[in-house]
Amino acid sequence: MKNLTIAIDGHASTGKSSIAKELAVKYGYIYINSGSMYRAVTLFAIENNLLKLTKTNINLFIDKLKEISINFKFNDNSLISEIYLNSRNIENEIGGMHVSKLVSEIAAIPEIRKEMVKIQRTIDRGKGVVMDGRDIGSVVFPDADLKLFLTASDSVRAKRRFEEMVKNGLEVSYEDILYNIKNRDLLDSTRSDSPLIIEKDAVVIDNSHMSINDQIDKISKLIKDKFSN
Ligand code: CDP
Repeated sequence: MKNLTIAIDGHASTGKSSIAKELAVKYGYIYINSGSMYRAVTLFAIENNLLKLTKTNINLFIDKLKEISINFKFNDNSLISEIYLNSRNIENEIGGMHVSKLVSEIAAIPEIRKEMVKIQRTIDRGKGVVMDGRDIGSVVFPDADLKLFLTASDSVRAKRRFEEMVKNGLEVSYEDILYNIKNRDLLDSTRSDSPLIIEKDAVVIDNSHMSINDQIDKISKLIKDKFSN
């Protein structure tokens, strides 16, 4: 079987990264979480007091982007490519609510999207790649071999994210998370540049009542049916 490009898009907190990671491990592909890149830019904006700039002078903010270098390094323990902002590992930091609350506004800025997509497309797809995000099947890799769109009910998604954050020692409330994921879905689906849409050739998976294993089984079957000779 040839090495595939798999695009996973979908609503906030639908477990896209867990599925992407499992698939990448199973097939020996590279996994890139594109959301972590928008989160990295947001963290940079918070730390450099740029949030006001985004409203008043977008060009100054864009200029500052030149100071950012975003890299991924594979961690043999977590089995994922962790994200580095200017050589600092920020994989854990970017999951916090301070970033989640602002990321969709930053991600709506066309100049920022252009830079992120440029980096995403430099990935060597020859070894097979799984990338998750909001515009992977529509903009980043419209020629992806397999496009998946994940969704689930609001309450299931909020509960999962709440449990994950509490497990990671973060202080959060379920209500804040529920509001945040609904708000991000709205902003992500209604922005003018690269909105979250369901591509015509995407397979939609509502995983409200599916385990990660159920989903991997379903996707593996799709891959087998479609790509094994
Ligand atoms: O994991 P979760 O669903 O919470 O979101 P994420 O993948 O970490 O993405 C965080 C935010 O980045 C999204 O809500 C979008 O605003 C933005 N994003 C985007 O615009 N395009 C992408 N390809 C990936 C993320």
